[in-house]
Amino acid sequence: MPVPTPSRQAPAAVLCAVAGWVPPRVVTNDELAQRLDTDDTWIRTRTGIRRRHVAGPGQATSDLAVEAGRLALHSAGLAPAGSPTVGKSPVDTVIVTTTTPDRPCPATAPAVAARLGLDRVAAFDVGAVCTGFVYGLATAAGLIAAGVAQRVLLIGADTYSTIVDPLDRANAIIFGDGAGAVVLRGGHPDEPGAVGHFDLGSDGTHEDLIMVAAGGSRRRSAGAGAGAGAGAGAGAGTEAGVGPELARAERYFAMRGNEVYRHALTRMAASARATLTAAGWKTDDVDHFVPHQANLRILHSVADDLGLPRERCVANVDAVGNTGAASIPLALADAAAQRVVRPGDRLLLTAFGGGLTWGSCLLTWPELSPPPHPYAPLVPHGTGEDSPS
Ligand code: UT7
Repeated sequence: MPVPTPSRQAPAAVLCAVAGWVPPRVVTNDELAQRLDTDDTWIRTRTGIRRRHVAGPGQATSDLAVEAGRLALHSAGLAPAGSPTVGKSPVDTVIVTTTTPDRPCPATAPAVAARLGLDRVAAFDVGAVCTGFVYGLATAAGLIAAGVAQRVLLIGADTYSTIVDPLDRANAIIFGDGAGAVVLRGGHPDEPGAVGHFDLGSDGTHEDLIMVAAGGSRRRSAGAGAGAGAGAGAGAGTEAGVGPELARAERYFAMRGNEVYRHALTRMAASARATLTAAGWKTDDVDHFVPHQANLRILHSVADDLGLPRERCVANVDAVGNTGAASIPLALADAAAQRVVRPGDRLLLTAFGGGLTWGSCLLTWPELSPPPHPYAPLVPHGTGEDSPS
């Protein structure tokens, strides 16, 4: 569904900083192959992934979000790196978008805001799985256009390593942990950095394609109020799975990869096209396509479908894997750090994820202080076996 752009009088959300952070521990394909029935060649050719970063023991999503948020505030000139903000809060709203919150309740954003020293700001989470960052951008843009917020810190952060079954070779190879953050301020819709047009959509009839089945109100975690509340209406305590013995598959993240793959291709291309049409942009107007980093084959296929040269596709999935809601801001931080995106360049961001959900957004890159590189860069790709088929 194309989203109408706010009227000329309404302030636009303008990007004024970007940053990314990944946990230091690197897991290579070879390391995964030591415990799973897989190998480096299969992973590289089917996904383009060569390594991913994984949270350490006890490291939660908020820990990653705080690091990325602090770096973004610093890049925006709003706070010293490494120390909490002091005095008047430099942003009035913190949005965290994640599929792996620290806990089911409360939201992760208030704790992140508090740890950044952002006193009494509005803080809440947005959940749209891997589309979360684009939904979060639209939410921030709406708050700024409505005059509810003036400066927003938006963080996409995920620790899929905490929900993926380590023995599930199809999913364990894809996902990595990370966080990316942007700061948005009110500004003029025509100035560089202004976000929009948007396209957002969903199709909940396919909710089963990407799912953690247990742990919510439909199917509770082991011992979480078994037999009470929602279960009472259907016969308290009688619903299968409300007790402590949940099947392994229900406790972990599950994805029907093949079907998701097909949806990703069509939905991302359609969303990208809808956004370009709404803005009156031609494909050739796009200098950089920044898709959700799901799988390099998906990114290249969508670029091909749109008629965009693959060189215009920003891709860092080789180094970080699929980092969920963090993937687009991490890719932006990576590209900004390497000066791949330059002031005046026109960007198309397109995401797809569980729900199903999808979304796209356009922006012209502003003058920004480049963030530190979020991770040690990989050596450049070779040809041949490094290239996914
Ligand atoms: O971020 C949200 C959106 N997510 C996505 O967009 C992800 C979309 N899906 C994908 O990226 C791909 O479907 C996967 C990477 C998950 C899987 O790649 P695929 O090329 O679609 O493989 P497949 O599921 O069709 O499986 C092909 C074969 C199967 O074996 P058989 O049945 O042909 O004997 C799998 O069991 O590959 C096997 N396989 C593996 N083999 C070695 C599955 N995972 C692995 C593995 N190593 N890690």
